Amino acid sequence: MSRLLGTCLLWSIVAALYIQRAKADIHIPCPSVPRDFYPGVAPQNSSPPYVLNVTDKDGRPLHDFHFIGSEAIHTISLSGKQTGNDTEKFVGFIINIYNDFTDEPSGDFVTPLPQGVKEEECHYEGRSYINEVVMNSTAKEWTNLQVQWKSPKKSPAGNIHIRASVIKEYGVYWDGINVTLKYMCPTPGCYLPDGCPHGLARNKYGCITCECAGVAAITVQFSSLLFIAIALLYNFM
Ligand SMILES: *[C@@H]1O[C@H](CO)[C@@H](O)[C@H](O)[C@H]1NC(C)=O
Ligand SMILES: *[C@@H]1O[C@H](CO)[C@@H](O)[C@H](O)[C@H]1NC(C)=O
Ligand SMILES: *[C@@H]1O[C@H](CO)[C@@H](O)[C@H](O)[C@H]1NC(C)=O
Ligand SMILES: *[C@@H]1O[C@H](CO)[C@@H](O)[C@H](O)[C@H]1NC(C)=O
Repeated sequence: MSRLLGTCLLWSIVAALYIQRAKADIHIPCPSVPRDFYPGVAPQNSSPPYVLNVTDKDGRPLHDFHFIGSEAIHTISLSGKQTGNDTEKFVGFIINIYNDFTDEPSGDFVTPLPQGVKEEECHYEGRSYINEVVMNSTAKEWTNLQVQWKSPKKSPAGNIHIRASVIKEYGVYWDGINVTLKYMCPTPGCYLPDGCPHGLARNKYGCITCECAGVAAITVQFSSLLFIAIALLYNFM
């Protein structure tokens, strides 16, 4: 009886684990123009007549290098370039925001979104975490679009890429219009009296830390090996 119970319990644990895994494996891919709008139609090769610009809460333009603070509000603008007296128009767009690291957050769009814009949650290029993407919810004509985005709470959290696909007219679109927001590394305030033979180590964000490169890791490995060897010895005595 107890053995049957045990078997049942074991199977329900296995089933529960399986269901949990299956849930985590369901990935909704982010919308894409060539897949969802114009299958088989390649994007334009020419330089796109649209630009993405990002400004901070004081309206200052942000270029590639700056400090993205924690939960800082930014305005993302997608606009048509000026050609002669005309501003290039567009009828549809998709804006994806994703992190360099597949396990780091990528911030949130601030609601309410402007009219004619909707948000979707999806997995960008197979990332495990859920990304937010904004896109047109109607097929009206635009010359300019502004959405607000809040940076992740965690800082630094890896470089963030904003990437747009813009549709000029039926079957005519540009992909990969992008800007990258980089975190500025904090200056490490360390004093290592003996210095480091291989310089200072960098963390996963590429920022210098207050640890020696190479040596520390090796020391730890050796001492833990020694510890295991001693433990084994004790067990045999
Ligand atoms: C917008 O972005 C483009 C391309 O990155 C850049 O040339 C332009 O100066 C930016 N405009 C502003 C107002 O920052
Ligand atoms: C731009 O507008 C001005 C004034 O309306 C006009 O004189 C000029 O010819 C226009 N240029 C083009 C390229 O259309
Ligand atoms: C967004 O714009 C494109 C191009 O005009 C259109 O095909 C698509 O239906 C629009 N999306 C929605 C949800 O209306
Ligand atoms: C980002 O834009 C640059 C040109 O501004 C382009 O060379 C690059 O391929 C784009 N990156 C991606 C990932 O689309």
